Parts: sequence; structure tokens; C-alpha cells
Amino acid sequence: MAGIKIIGTGKYVPETVSTNEDFTKIVDTSDEWITQRTGIKTRHMSDGEPSWYMGMKAGAQAIESAGLSPDDIDMVICTSVTGDYYTPATANIVQGKLNIHHAFSIDINCACAGFVYALDMARRYLSVGEDVQNILIVSPENITKLVDYTDRSTCVLFGDGAGAAVVTRSEGFYHSYLETDGSGADKIYAQSARPGNAFTNREKAESFKELFPQGKEHYMYMAGNDVYRFATTKMPEALEKACAKAGFTPADLDIIIPHQANARIITTAAKNLKLPMEKFYVNIEHYGNISSACIPICLHELREAGRLHSGDKVGLVGFGAGLIFGACVFEY
Ligand code: UT7
Repeated sequence: MAGIKIIGTGKYVPETVSTNEDFTKIVDTSDEWITQRTGIKTRHMSDGEPSWYMGMKAGAQAIESAGLSPDDIDMVICTSVTGDYYTPATANIVQGKLNIHHAFSIDINCACAGFVYALDMARRYLSVGEDVQNILIVSPENITKLVDYTDRSTCVLFGDGAGAAVVTRSEGFYHSYLETDGSGADKIYAQSARPGNAFTNREKAESFKELFPQGKEHYMYMAGNDVYRFATTKMPEALEKACAKAGFTPADLDIIIPHQANARIITTAAKNLKLPMEKFYVNIEHYGNISSACIPICLHELREAGRLHSGDKVGLVGFGAGLIFGACVFEY
């Protein structure tokens, strides 16, 4: 199977920025606690921009930076877990707003690992036949609408924004390792509308117990410590397994872009891999955790800074609700 080439990237973040100091006014916390325990200083937060809008902005920039026109895009994959509608797919709205004709669009829900899973899916479409040449991946997230701002252990962690990339086929290497552990589905969740209609038998409905403990409205619940442990073991495991398929080790990678959930998770993963922190790109200080948007925003920033060179060995590694994790390594 062929590899992938990232030929364009884009990013959009809302204008409003919240500082750690801002959070001390709404919950019992401090700049010191947030900085030491998470590495986060600020986050961009939606001023009402819907996810499709952020995806459209980042997507337009990615197409332009690839030197393509919208009609060169054959497929759109959107990774948002915070779509604006149950239906249609956010990918469809972004496709329409970007005037991309003759393409097909798909939403995937792979939480914070969404970009890694989308890239892997893109590569598989690109590898089969000639009908798909250029794929736009958009990762817009409005995570803050799922956040309970009375819960200090989660509210300080998240921000909003979007990343995007245009991907095409290449002859370079590409390998991945993806895995989900559905038995950990109760470790992070946010509930959708409950089943029911005009004819629902209320008594019978009561017999269907909640799968997970009753959450607070639609807000996100997270067992932070369990996810922390999961992330610090599974990120190294996924990277090692993807590299092994490529015939090298994580030490051979030029740059590793990890999901940005907590700076301490990244430091611990680096230690477990016996790698220096210089190999890891970290921007969590400015954005907090933007779920699937984190990795493509990092990619965009690295490209803009001229830090990615042809032939570089790049590693992406993500984890999140599901529980889900995965890594891919490829020649830039
Ligand atoms: O993208 C994937 C989704 N999310 C994640 O990956 C998050 C993974 N988990 C984490 O990053 C960390 O577990 C957290 C940042 C959520 C929590 O950090 P921690 O070092 O694991 O803290 P903890 O939950 O063990 O709590 C330690 C203490 C507790 O107080 P007591 O019980 O020791 O008195 C908490 O109540 O820190 C307290 N605490 C806070 N204190 C000040 C929790 N949140 C805060 C806060 N400010 N914001």
C-alpha cells in the first residue's frame, strides 16, 4: 500500500481566550495547580462559532496552502465529537460551505484520536484505485459546550478550535497501530438525548437502566486518573507498535506529535519511551485540550514554522474516549 503526503494544513481558533486566573473566579483552583498539573495556561473558547464554521475556516486554509481548488477534493472526513447536528454530518456542511463539488463526506467519532484514525482511513481510501486523489480532513471541536463549569477537575482542561489537512498519495512509508478498548467506555462520556417518543411505554422505559452512571445533563464526565494511567501506557505502546511495523523504533522518529491532554502525560510517555522531550511537539500551554483538533493544529504550526522537511519520519499518537488509542508513522 502507498503512503500519504500532507500537502496542506489549516487552523482556526476563536478570539476569546481564558486564562488560569479567569478560572479562579468561577471554581476553587489556582494558576499554580493548573500549570503544574496540566501545563495549561490559556485556552481559546468559542464565541458561538459552530463546529462547521471552525471546520470551514481551517479547511479553506488547508486547501489554499495545498495549492488546490475546492473541486480538487474528492473526499471530506470530519473528526468532530461536537457536531452541531445529529444529522447531517458536520463533514457535509463543511463540504457545502467550501463549495466542494463531486466529493463524498463522512463523519467519524474517534474522540481525541480522531485525526490519527481519519489519516489512517484516508490512506486506505487513497491506496485503493484512482478515484480518490485528495482528501480533506477537518477536525473542528466545540468541546467547551460539553464542559460543566462547576467541576474544577475537568473545566480547566478544555478549549475550542479546529485543525485541518489535505492528504494525498505518496510512495513514502506509512504504518499505523490502532486499538480500542470498549470496556473503558465509561471512563469519559457525554450523554445524548434519551430515547422516548409520543407512544413510549414509560414503565417499560424505566426498566432500561442507564448504561453509565447518570451524568449531569449532557455534560462530559471523566475519570481523570484512570484516563491518565491509560494514556501514559497506551501512547508509548501504540508508537512502539507502529514503528515496529516500519522496522524502526520511536527513537528513529524526527518528530512526535502527541494528543495534547496534559503536559504531564506527554512527559511521562516520553520517559517511558526513554526519549528526550525535544522529540515531542507540545503546544498545550496555549490551547488546552481541543480533542481531535490538537494534532492537526500541531501539524499546521510545525509546517508554518518550517520544522517539517521532506523525508522526515513523523509520528502521530492519540488517545481518548472509547477508550481509544492509536499511532501512525509516515515519511513526510
Ligand atoms: O483527551 C483525553 C481526555 N482527558 C484526559 O486525558 C485527562 C487525563 N487526566 C488528567 O489529565 C489528570 O488526571 C487531571 C488533570 C484530570 C487531574 O490531575 P491529577 O494530578 O490526576 O489530580 P487528581 O484528580 O488526583 O486530584 C488531586 C487533587 C484533588 O484534591 P484532594 O482530593 O487531594 O484534596 C482534586 O480535588 O487536586 C484537586 N483538584 C484541583 N485542585 C485545584 C482537581 N482539579 C483541581 C483544580 N484546581 N482545577
